[in-house]
Amino acid sequence: MQVFVDSADQKQIAQWLEQGVVDGVTTNPSIMFKDGVAEIEEGARRLAAMLGDLPLSVEVTTNVVVKIPIINEYGESCLGVIHRLSQEGIAINSTAILSFNQAILAAKAGATYVSIFAGRVADEGNDPAVVIHNVRRWLDDWEFSTRIIVGSIRTVMDIQNAALAGAHIITIPPQFLPKMVDHRYTRETVRQFVQDAQKTLAEMKQTKVSAAAASAQQ
Ligand code: E4P
Repeated sequence: MQVFVDSADQKQIAQWLEQGVVDGVTTNPSIMFKDGVAEIEEGARRLAAMLGDLPLSVEVTTNVVVKIPIINEYGESCLGVIHRLSQEGIAINSTAILSFNQAILAAKAGATYVSIFAGRVADEGNDPAVVIHNVRRWLDDWEFSTRIIVGSIRTVMDIQNAALAGAHIITIPPQFLPKMVDHRYTRETVRQFVQDAQKTLAEMKQTKVSAAAASAQQ
């Protein structure tokens, strides 16, 4: 399973890239705005340069399209665009997917990624784990190479649920990564190790001092 960071914040992305857990980055115009990227194209270029070969999903409405919603705001299908660009060899991330049917159509149209928005599926009272699981099973059964990205992560538990439901990739807002890695009992365990090591070192030192004193008296 891969981990993407759902952010346009260069500092946070760099921090997690350095720790070896990031396989790519996703953004959208709302994320760019929230993270203070005023120039979308310039911001996207900077992120792409940071990432080297790793994939960057950028949502655009005109020109070169990489991240394309499954439908537009009027409910009109974007499958034709997904299909045409895929046929031209452009990797498409079909986004804003909220149902099994949307996901399988995007896969059939040639999308490289289908982005299931877990938080928004749950907003409507549906279980994202069921959608993710069913899409994954369908892709595997019919041997599609399309990969599931799970986005719209709102809690750490969403990440765990998505991973267990069969997400190929989870795109994680960076504020959740420290929560994933931390655990108060691990801290306590390490604190105990450090204290015991300090005690052992102190005892070893004391033993050496006593041995030196004993040999000086002889
Ligand atoms: C994912 O690719 C989307 O950009 C994003 O996760 C949407 O999240 P939201 O539903 O919390 O806005």
